[in-house]
Amino acid sequence: MLRLENIKYSKNSNDIIKGISMKFEEEKVYGIVGNNGVGKSTIGYIIMGLSDYTVNDGKIFLDDNDITDLSITERAKKGIALLWQEPARFEGITVKNYLTLNKKMNIKEIEEALNLVNLDPDKYLNRLVDKKLSGGERKKVELASCILLKPKYLIMDEPDSGIDIMSLDMIVGVMDYLKNKGTTLIVITHRKEIARKCEYSYLICAGKVFLEGESNKIVEYYEKTCDTCGHINYAEEA
Ligand SMILES: Nc1ncnc2c1ncn2[C@@H]1O[C@H](COP(=O)(O)OP(=O)(O)O)[C@@H](O)[C@H]1O
Ligand SMILES: [Mg+2]
Repeated sequence: MLRLENIKYSKNSNDIIKGISMKFEEEKVYGIVGNNGVGKSTIGYIIMGLSDYTVNDGKIFLDDNDITDLSITERAKKGIALLWQEPARFEGITVKNYLTLNKKMNIKEIEEALNLVNLDPDKYLNRLVDKKLSGGERKKVELASCILLKPKYLIMDEPDSGIDIMSLDMIVGVMDYLKNKGTTLIVITHRKEIARKCEYSYLICAGKVFLEGESNKIVEYYEKTCDTCGHINYAEEA
C-alpha cells in the first residue's frame, strides 16, 4: 500500500498542499479530481519524488516503509511511475528505442503496447520521438512505455490531455489493462468519464482533500458543486 500522511508542501512561501492524507491499496484504481490549480499535479509530483517537491511536513509510506526521503530514481526502482501531463520530447531516438531503452524486449510485446494505444506499429516503430510527433501521438507513446514498464503504482496526470476526445475509450481500455496486470492506478483527472472508471476518488480543493469516497458519488458532487463553483480554491465545508 502507498500512503500519504499529513503532507504539506509550499513553494515560494505559497502553501500549495496543506496537510493531505491518502491511501492507495494494491491493484485498485483511484481518482484524484478537482478544478484547475487546486494542487492535483503537485500531489502526483510529491508521490513520484521530483527533486523540486520535497515536502515540508508529513510522511510517505510504501508498504509501511518510510520513502519520504527517497529520490525519484529510488522510488522508480520500487515500482512507482508517472505518466506526465506534458511528456518531454527527445531528438534522435526512435519510438522503438525509446520504448525498449536498450533493454532486451520481445518485439511482440512492444507491438501489443502500441496497438493498445491505437498507434499502428508498422507506422510508428521507426518514427523519431521528436517535435514532428503531435502532442497526442507523443502522449500515446508515453502511455505505451508505461504499459511496458508494468509499474506497481502508476500516477497518470490528466491521461487524456492533448489526446482527442475519440481516444477516451482507448485510455479507459489501457486503465483496465493495467489494472488487470496488477498495477495500482492513481488517475489525476477532471474528466468525468475517466473519474467514473475509478473505484475510489479524492476530491481536492485548495490543497486539501475536500471529500473522498466511492468515485460515482464524488463525481456527482463534483458535477453539482465544483463545476459551477465561484470560489475555486477557497474550500468551505462540504
Ligand atoms: N513553481 C511554483 N511556484 C509557485 N506556485 C506554484 C508552482 N507550481 C504550481 N504552483 C501553484 O500551485 C497550485 C497547484 O498547482 P497544480 O498542482 O499544478 O494544480 P492542478 O494540477 O490541480 O491544476 C496552483 O495554484 C499553481 O499556481
Ligand atoms: Mg495539473
